[in-house]
Amino acid sequence: MTGQALVLRSQDPIPDAVADSLRALGVTALWEVSPTQWRAYFTDAAPDPVVALRERHPEVECGWEEEPAVDWAGRYQSSLRPLAIGRRFAILPSPALDSPWPERIALRLVPGMAFGTGEHYTTASCLRLLEEMPSSPASVLDVGCGSGILAAASCKLGCPRVTACDVDADALLVAGETAAANGVSYGLVAGSAAQVEGEFDLVFANILAETLAAILPDLAARLAPGGLLAGSGIAAGRQEEVLADASSLGLVLIESRTDGEWWTLLWRARSSMG
Ligand SMILES: C[S@@+](CC[C@H](N)C(=O)[O-])C[C@H]1O[C@@H](n2cnc3c(N)ncnc32)[C@H](O)[C@@H]1O
Repeated sequence: MTGQALVLRSQDPIPDAVADSLRALGVTALWEVSPTQWRAYFTDAAPDPVVALRERHPEVECGWEEEPAVDWAGRYQSSLRPLAIGRRFAILPSPALDSPWPERIALRLVPGMAFGTGEHYTTASCLRLLEEMPSSPASVLDVGCGSGILAAASCKLGCPRVTACDVDADALLVAGETAAANGVSYGLVAGSAAQVEGEFDLVFANILAETLAAILPDLAARLAPGGLLAGSGIAAGRQEEVLADASSLGLVLIESRTDGEWWTLLWRARSSMG
C-alpha cells in the first residue's frame, strides 16, 4: 500500500515460515529491522495480507503503519546548496545555479560520480591553502583531480598553466566537464604523477595516505625548485609516516592543518639540488 508498511512484531524471533507466507501473499520488499520486527511492503494491487497472516501465524502481531514521510525533493535540493569556502570561493554544485555571493569566485560543478564537491575537509583545506598564497602559482599540477575542483580553482585564481591527472577515467570525464562549466582550460592526463611531464610550482595530491606515501617520489619529481606540495586526504594517525617519507625525500614541512580526522600537509622542495 502506498505510504504504508505492514509491520510484524513477535516476542521471539520471527520464523522463516513467515517470510514464505509473505512471499506467497505477494510481498515486494521485506526489511528485517530486527529478529523480532519486520517491515513488509506490498503494491496497491495486492490483496490485503493481514487476515491470512494472522490465521497462519497467530504468534506474530501484524498491522499497517504509516511510513514516515521523507521529503526527497527537499533532500535533493538541499544537496545542491551553494557552499562558501574560505574567504574567496563559492561552490555551485550545479552549473545553472546562481551564486548567492557574487563577490566570491564561483566554482561550478557538474553533478557526477567524481569526488570533489568541496564539502569534504580535505578538499576545502586545499582550496584555503590556495587562496591564502601571496600570489597565484605560475603552474599547478592536481594529482587525483576527481571532479577537477582544485584545477578549476587554480585557473580561476589566475594560474596560467594547470594540469590535472587521475587514474579513474570517469573522473577525467567529469574534470573535463568542470573546465567547460567554468570557462577555464587545463591539461588532462590519464594516470598518476609519473605519467605527467614537466615541473610545477604547486602540486596538489588529495589522495589517501597509503597512495600518497607510495607516489611521494613521483610527486617530488614533479616539483620545480622551491615548489610546494600540498598533500591532503591523510587520515589522522597516518601523518607521521607520511611526514617521515617526505622528510627522507628532502621535502621541508612548512604547514600542517587538521580537523582532527584528516590532515593536510604543505611541503616545500629545496630551491636547488644538493
Ligand atoms: C579524494 S579524491 C580528490 C579529488 C579532488 N582533487 C579534491 O581535492 O576534491 C582522490 C582522487 O584520486 C584519484 N586517485 C587515486 N589514486 C591515484 C593515483 N595513484 N594517482 C592519481 N590519482 C589517483 C581517485 O581516482 C580520486 O579521483
